[in-house]
Amino acid sequence: MAISISLTVNGAPISASIDPNTLLVQFLRDQLRLTGTHVGCDTAQCGACTVHLNGRAIKSCNILAVQAEGADITTIEGIAKDGALHPMQAAFKHCHGLQCGFCTPGMVMSAISLVERQPNLTGDDVRAQLDGNLCRCTGYHNIVKAVLEGAEGMKSAGTANANAAATAPATA
Ligand code: FES
Ligand code: FES
Repeated sequence: MAISISLTVNGAPISASIDPNTLLVQFLRDQLRLTGTHVGCDTAQCGACTVHLNGRAIKSCNILAVQAEGADITTIEGIAKDGALHPMQAAFKHCHGLQCGFCTPGMVMSAISLVERQPNLTGDDVRAQLDGNLCRCTGYHNIVKAVLEGAEGMKSAGTANANAAATAPATA
């Protein structure tokens, strides 16, 4: 039996009818066609499916879409503004923080959430806090560089520390 949900995705109000068993990542990808959110494992291991739910990074393969009823969801498609990359996206591009790019949307979403809670980071902080996001390509060195550069970009843009009171990320 289908169930109705209403939520906000990338600033747009959405109402939809879904199967109650639909995972949030399936809803985003299959129903809304927001395919930038990837599925790497489907078992909450890899972080490729990371999105923001009410400003906090979560693994969207790990919750049902109905659990997002009333929530504010942001996906990788929703973070560039007015045609300009988000500072974290720009840093990943500048630092070559990707090879195949499959993990990158999840990495970027986790990194933004991290900097919004903890803007002053060391490389060790980044490695520890993003250990819920796996990359099979890069060896992580350029990813860590990118997150540190992205944190500086977010501070310059005034978007760091936006969620300082938020609890630890669900992606770790
Ligand atoms: Fe791997 Fe969600 S798809 S954590
Ligand atoms: Fe390929 Fe990370 S860049 S999995």
